Amino acid sequence: MNKIALVTGASRGLGKAIAQRLAKEGIDVIVHFGQNQDAANEVVAEIRQLGRTAFAVQADVSQVSSIYSMFEKIDTELVNLGQEPKLDILINNAGTAIGKPIQEWKEEEFDYQFNLNVKGLFFITQQAIPRLKEQGRIINIGTGLTRFSYPVYAVYAASKGAVDVLTHYLALELGTRGITVNTIAPGAIDTDLNAGWLRSQEGQQQTIAISAIKRIGMPEDIADAVAVLVSEDSRWITGQRIEASGGAHL
Ligand SMILES: NC(=O)c1ccc[n+]([C@@H]2O[C@H](COP(=O)([O-])OP(=O)(O)OC[C@H]3O[C@@H](n4cnc5c(N)ncnc54)[C@H](OP(=O)(O)O)[C@@H]3O)[C@@H](O)[C@H]2O)c1
Repeated sequence: MNKIALVTGASRGLGKAIAQRLAKEGIDVIVHFGQNQDAANEVVAEIRQLGRTAFAVQADVSQVSSIYSMFEKIDTELVNLGQEPKLDILINNAGTAIGKPIQEWKEEEFDYQFNLNVKGLFFITQQAIPRLKEQGRIINIGTGLTRFSYPVYAVYAASKGAVDVLTHYLALELGTRGITVNTIAPGAIDTDLNAGWLRSQEGQQQTIAISAIKRIGMPEDIADAVAVLVSEDSRWITGQRIEASGGAHL
């Protein structure tokens, strides 16, 4: 039986690259999306071309009721495919980064940042836990910004700091089942999330200047790191925050 992974936020950016990389490892993939169904369908088609099973599911990760509905759909879809409603791998990737000075934050923006990056991740994980097989894998996508600081990212970094802490506690609770839980913390990666800055000449120059490895990070750099952590060889690595930033701010 093939392994199966749920990758959240797999319609674009890092999640898309992770979904594609896992498929290349022979893993079936559930491609979660928020709003971009066409993009998610394209990812599904690409994965099927590789000979793997894939299907797309929608949920607004900032809404817990939407997460519950998504897992009902996943169960139904897996049963329709003749499979147990079980998962081997959960990649908690869906998220966003709102950037603005502390004085300018409104309550609803703060709530959205935490509802999506922390509460959504928590309740997706809670739903996944009874479905995860023994020796399963959970990877939470964090950020380098919990180690180094940039103006405007206080709330975003705090939300990912909560993710770093949840990783420790999840690893402790799930370790008895051989399930590993780790955070991959990317530095700046060229995706839609930070395109406005990172695709500008100034943004590129500054990002390269603070990096040990002198280039801009690409989604595949993160997808490859995820592939290492989901492999059998990584069974003894758990509860860790592993930075994949090309050595930012060393
Ligand atoms: N890019 C970076 O430099 C960087 C660095 C460190 C950490 N990260 C983290 O990496 C993760 C992915 O970032 P990215 O750069 O790939 O971002 P991205 O290109 O903006 O893609 C975000 C993904 O998350 C989904 N998403 C966003 N809001 C959602 C919501 N409310 N409900 C459901 N899905 C939602 C999007 O789905 P739809 O498009 O279908 O709506 C999309 O698939 C995030 O957790 C981010 O914080 C990124």
